[in-house]
Amino acid sequence: MNGVLEDRQQLAEKLKDFPSYYSNVLSSAHTSVVVCVTNQKQIVAACGIQRPFNYLVVYVQEEYRGHGLGTLAVKQAVNIARKSNFSFVNLAVSTENPSALRLYSKTGFRVTALFSKFRFKIMTLPLRFKGKIVYAFFSKVCSLLPEVILMNLVLSLMSVAKSIRQVGAVGFQEFLGAS
Ligand SMILES: CC(C)(COP(=O)(O)OP(=O)(O)OC[C@H]1O[C@@H](n2cnc3c(N)ncnc32)[C@H](O)[C@@H]1OP(=O)(O)O)[C@@H](O)C(=O)NCCC(=O)NCCS
Repeated sequence: MNGVLEDRQQLAEKLKDFPSYYSNVLSSAHTSVVVCVTNQKQIVAACGIQRPFNYLVVYVQEEYRGHGLGTLAVKQAVNIARKSNFSFVNLAVSTENPSALRLYSKTGFRVTALFSKFRFKIMTLPLRFKGKIVYAFFSKVCSLLPEVILMNLVLSLMSVAKSIRQVGAVGFQEFLGAS
């Protein structure tokens, strides 16, 4: 099924077996792109991109990992973002999550900032010229600032993101593909 996602409550219900962090983000009104992979009965993998900073999350149910579903969901979400004129997509990933790091690097995400003390990275996928400029600027700034200051900056941006409420759904895709 492809279309504009309107019923967030219905999605939250379908994601009830996902860890609460992921089901909350994916069914949030601020998540403007959602891609779900189903096994005909239930959602087994999902990827969402949340406004205003185009923050991507992806989750695959444990028994379905290692079959390319995470990659499929991320690529489809990025395709929708590209078609919807997003300039870039961002994410945060633990430096101790090798499968996620592999997935993101093979789908074109580049490191914007490394927080080695906090064991995570911010990665960005520029989608348009404006996104490339934003990436070049922020990766330079991040390479110059001390980690603690950078961390405070990220926390401030997160609280700004929380306070921005205007968002509209731009895309929803459901794939039948998992066995
Ligand atoms: C991260 C996650 C989404 C990956 O989903 P998945 O469906 O297993 O991913 P895929 O099968 O599409 O691809 C994973 C890639 O990582 C590789 N990989 C798996 N385990 C790995 C490891 N220990 N070290 C290095 N690479 C590894 C796979 O080989 C594959 O790469 P390849 O296609 O080049 O062979 C899934 O593990 C998950 O949901 N984890 C919990 C939530 C999470 O961590 N989300 C990301 C938050 S930033």
